[in-house]
Amino acid sequence: MTAHATAPAGPLLTLQDLVVSYRSRRGPRSRRQIRAVDGVSFSLGTGEILALVGESGCGKTSIVRAIARLEEPAGGQVLFRGASIAHVRGPALRQLRRDIQVVFQDPFESLDPRLTAFDTVAESLLVHRLGGSRAGRRDQVLAMLEQVGLHPAEAIARRYPHQLSGGQRQRLVIAGAMVLGPDLVIADEPVSMLDVSLRAGILRLMLDLRDSRGVSILFVTHDLSLAWVVADRVAVVYLGRIVEIGPMDEVIRAPLHPYTRALVSVIPVPETTTARRERILLRGEAPSASRIPGGCRFHPRCPLYRQLGEPERCRTEDPALVAVPPAGRGPAGTSKAGTHTDGASPGRIGAAAAGPEHAAACHFAKESS
Ligand SMILES: Nc1ncnc2c1ncn2[C@@H]1O[C@H](COP(=O)(O)OP(=O)(O)OP(=O)(O)O)[C@@H](O)[C@H]1O
Ligand code: SF4
Ligand SMILES: [Mg+2]
Repeated sequence: MTAHATAPAGPLLTLQDLVVSYRSRRGPRSRRQIRAVDGVSFSLGTGEILALVGESGCGKTSIVRAIARLEEPAGGQVLFRGASIAHVRGPALRQLRRDIQVVFQDPFESLDPRLTAFDTVAESLLVHRLGGSRAGRRDQVLAMLEQVGLHPAEAIARRYPHQLSGGQRQRLVIAGAMVLGPDLVIADEPVSMLDVSLRAGILRLMLDLRDSRGVSILFVTHDLSLAWVVADRVAVVYLGRIVEIGPMDEVIRAPLHPYTRALVSVIPVPETTTARRERILLRGEAPSASRIPGGCRFHPRCPLYRQLGEPERCRTEDPALVAVPPAGRGPAGTSKAGTHTDGASPGRIGAAAAGPEHAAACHFAKESS
């Protein structure tokens, strides 16, 4: 991790009105643009875990790729420690490639089958000319393998990817990322290829790494219940836009946007709970970024729109995110204790996220919360 004498004042990562678009795959001569990410803004504080949640095709990976400089944004910007990453070159870009690490969903694809676990992690150090002497590097690699739960490290270090379980492989990918001491880890569906039985261990590992190393994590998932396990805050993405963002527990307790309500309604709850919840099943096809509906982009599937008698406003006006005081709280910007006005979670390491405390993009979020 980059050493800071004092914690950085602003957020570690800020997205301002990010747009990512692709040319349609309908043929080489197609000029149609797909706006996969359509004006996304959020901030991530040091030591904070923010979840990006939304169904397949909503633009999560496109956001990740833009942050990691794997995709050129068509608009807006990505700021890392307050500076735009757009024109970073040379040694500064090499440093950025250390500071921001991405863990993708398929560990098998991320690993070189010809490298042992030891060489996989050592390779990360060598590429970035880190680790010092051979002996120093060896100590660092073994310590990292232990830290991600691959023990006994000496024995695991000799194994090849095909000799490891799915969970061990993902731990190894995480070790290769963490050994570089990043400030930000982006985990894009890190457990979706794993057996349910192995998922909890990887999620716990992410929490441990945040607590022990103060790393910030952008946790990307289509599964709100997984996000709930790890994240301090959540941003719900629908068709390239954030439709709701706020503290995790708050969003689960009192979701404001009809899309978030539908996601929350299908989270499995323990059988022992007395609360009865009505499952909200969304009608209609999963949306395509190549045909974004006019007005509020959620209106063709929105249960509230139908319930309210299909107001014209929903078909003609594109709602913006507005800060909404959640039920049982004061005006937006004050918390129960009146101390956390910046969206940060109390008790989290250095969590100092900027941005609205709890905001949703629906004309009726205020009235119906
Ligand atoms: N290289 C590309 N060329 C054209 N369209 C693309 C490209 N990559 C993504 N898309 C489209 O952009 C939209 C967003 O895709 P993206 O992969 O960012 O979504 P996602 O939320 O990560 O989905 P998933 O949960 O399935 O991983 C989709 O409509 C997808 O088909
Ligand atoms: S603005 Fe209308 S269509 Fe959009 S989420 Fe709100 S009620 Fe639904
Ligand atoms: Mg994806």
